[in-house]
Amino acid sequence: MLIKKAADLRESDVTPKETFLKRRDFLAVAGSAAVGVATNGFGLAGSPDACAQNPAAQKLTNLKKSPFSTDEKLNSYKDITTYNNFYEFGLDKADPGKYAHTLKPRPWSVVVEGQCGKPGTYHIEDIMKYAPLEERIYRLRCVEAWSMVIPWIGYPLSEFLKRFEPTTKAKYVEFRTLVDTKQMPGQTEPALNWPYVEGLRMDEAMHPLTLLGLGLYGEVMPNQNGAPIRLVIPWKYGFKSIKSIVRVRFVETEPVNTWKQQQSSEYGFFANVNPQVDHPRWTQGSERRLGEFFRRKTLQFNGYGDQVASLYTGMDLRKFY
Ligand code: MTE
Repeated sequence: MLIKKAADLRESDVTPKETFLKRRDFLAVAGSAAVGVATNGFGLAGSPDACAQNPAAQKLTNLKKSPFSTDEKLNSYKDITTYNNFYEFGLDKADPGKYAHTLKPRPWSVVVEGQCGKPGTYHIEDIMKYAPLEERIYRLRCVEAWSMVIPWIGYPLSEFLKRFEPTTKAKYVEFRTLVDTKQMPGQTEPALNWPYVEGLRMDEAMHPLTLLGLGLYGEVMPNQNGAPIRLVIPWKYGFKSIKSIVRVRFVETEPVNTWKQQQSSEYGFFANVNPQVDHPRWTQGSERRLGEFFRRKTLQFNGYGDQVASLYTGMDLRKFY
């Protein structure tokens, strides 16, 4: 699919982010859907009023800088929040930015179950303070050959998972998105089998690059990017980065992830970025950074090979795509 190329200069390129945000329609609409999060000492700042207006405007402070960050040019906040894949709100890349205001990221809880010593239900406020929040600037290489550079906020997924004391039987971890047709009207359509499901092998889940995403651009996660909690796995295609997670399950066998259920000939379980293995309908050898005209060469493991290639030693990456 071709990227819809905006005019050379976007509003967000020339307008300070705060001013730009104030103008956005979704902020006004989100006011009615938002549930307040009080200033609470979990790294969240801002007045309860600001939060009642839009939870996405909540600032996240005291962020640690990450040595894993790239110094590439960031995509604008507008790029990141208006060109999304989130089928629960429609199939067009612009749909989540227009319609995800119906998602209520507070209150929110995540059920943790399966092969672990400490299953239970964990509230988002607790999850946010489990570990120090970091800013991690990652490239994300998404389906249909586009990419972005995003200043994510979160902490390593391993920090989160180890608290539940996975047993030796936990070989994989499966994640599920919320199912609620009121909050996610796209789920009234059979576009996918709901809920959206993803999975990682335990060593992938525990890898230091795998991030539990809780925000971006200094704020809690915008709804359209998967509020309030999602994965960010920078060496894999974007579809592995599941949004709006409500269930985490430690399992013995490989989970059947959504895109494998839909089209196993096109999407495998691993989904490691691999320029040598084309998607049946488009090349994976090159990509287009949102906001740029010329394509750039795609890097093996999206450029994170030094850190992650050893996870796959001895595996035929053409077979295990
Ligand atoms: N998670 C859910 N629940 N539903 C989705 O449709 N789309 C995936 C992934 N996570 C998706 C999802 C796909 S295909 C991509 S490319 C990324 O989210 C996009 O993340 P972004 O919108 O923040 O760029």
